[in-house]
Amino acid sequence: MRPTRSGDPGEGAASAAWELLLPAASAPARTRGRSLQAALREAVRSGRLAPGTRLPSSRDLAADLGVSRGLVTEAYEQLTAEGYLRSGLGSGTWVGAAVRAAEPRAHDLAPRSPGARADFVPGTPDLALFPRAAWAAAHRGVLADLPHQELGYPDPRGLPRLRTALAELLARRRGVVADPERIVVVSGVAQATTLLGFALHARGVRAVGVEDPGSPQHDALYASAGVTAVPLPVDDEGVALEPLRASGVRAVVTTPAHQFPTGIAYSARRRAELLDWARSVDGIVLEDDYDGDFRYDRAPVGALQGLDPDHVVYTGSVSKSLAPGLRLGWMLVPESWAEEVVERKRTMDLGHPSLDQALFARFLERGDYDRQLRRCQRAYRDRRDALVAALDAHFPGAKVSGIAAGLHVIATLPQRYGPEERFLARVAAAGVAVRPLSAYAHTPAGPEEAEGVRLVLGYAHVPTARIAEGVRLMAGAATG
Ligand SMILES: Cc1ncc(COP(=O)(O)O)c(C=O)c1O
Repeated sequence: MRPTRSGDPGEGAASAAWELLLPAASAPARTRGRSLQAALREAVRSGRLAPGTRLPSSRDLAADLGVSRGLVTEAYEQLTAEGYLRSGLGSGTWVGAAVRAAEPRAHDLAPRSPGARADFVPGTPDLALFPRAAWAAAHRGVLADLPHQELGYPDPRGLPRLRTALAELLARRRGVVADPERIVVVSGVAQATTLLGFALHARGVRAVGVEDPGSPQHDALYASAGVTAVPLPVDDEGVALEPLRASGVRAVVTTPAHQFPTGIAYSARRRAELLDWARSVDGIVLEDDYDGDFRYDRAPVGALQGLDPDHVVYTGSVSKSLAPGLRLGWMLVPESWAEEVVERKRTMDLGHPSLDQALFARFLERGDYDRQLRRCQRAYRDRRDALVAALDAHFPGAKVSGIAAGLHVIATLPQRYGPEERFLARVAAAGVAVRPLSAYAHTPAGPEEAEGVRLVLGYAHVPTARIAEGVRLMAGAATG
């Protein structure tokens, strides 16, 4: 039944709200209130509860969800204060008339900060390292060689030549079990996520677990497919198992090689537990291998997918290795999901542009991609070392973690630099762009955590010579 608009709450609104909020209601007691608020906020933001919809009374909703009435009242009050809901004396609670999508949490896709004197916002590689000459040569080669018929509509999975080259690459570099028949070429992890979201929705799945802290991208993309993100805490081994089990979700998004943003690598034990969980609930794990290509001084951590290709959807892209503007990525889907995902890809855009695919296939086949990865790897390791050294010099006592891989680190500054709000204001005034870890958290920090300062510092796009200067500026501002 649809929610009622501008009328009595009735059964429609109650059952719609009930369905949307059900996963949050089964969150662990400690986080249930916040989960409920997050799910309700997301339902309003995404338009699934449209402006003007009247919500059930707190008593009815609490009874439907099997939670205490106080939790529902608190959620209504909080969202009313935030402007998502409005309430009138004795007239119930409504979705606000002019709800605008809320400001996203700090976003990887945020444009770089143009006026900043130093910019450590994570998310982009060094675009100046884009291999223009090799790319142009591959482009010329493809235009000269491509048979006419390959300019027709492509196979929605992608050109066979590219899927074969990708299968070789992913098996070799990431330990993926890579059957070209189960690869789908997509326009990035973002599209892979959306396709999976639609496929989950078609199977009746309405909730997906996401890492907390995690990438804000995931929540928004699943919401666009009608699937609600349920935040699950990350501990030092990966996504925490008990909350995952208790949440009742049957799909979970993970970043096992280098958790975004904390930078930890999932432990071998947690990987095994996660796959056991997936098998036991007939569920699925989405592995977002967004920066798995970059590792510096630790043994390679192979993809989770290699351990159980039937329960993992693996996805990656060239957004960190070449440039996000190329919009080019891949997903590897278990056999039981392949048909559904490919059909979604077909109906979405009739397949990825063939010229781009042929070009990338040639780039891979000729070893240009491996060369690019090696070149970036060297540059990024130097930058990482420069950042760690600068933090050590200018922020004595700072703890730097997540440094073994990827394009960002986490810096935990000693208490004296806090509280976070003051630190961020001072640093921003000095023209240094940074993101706190809290910007990626679904669950607000407790008072103790809020006292400290934890930063997610992206370094890949900052030339080595400018890293020390940026950190010095930041330290000067923080203590000044
Ligand atoms: C966690 C995470 N996954 C995926 C991506 C990349 O998405 P796409 O491949 O669509 O560019 C990003 C981009 O910054 C990210 O931070």
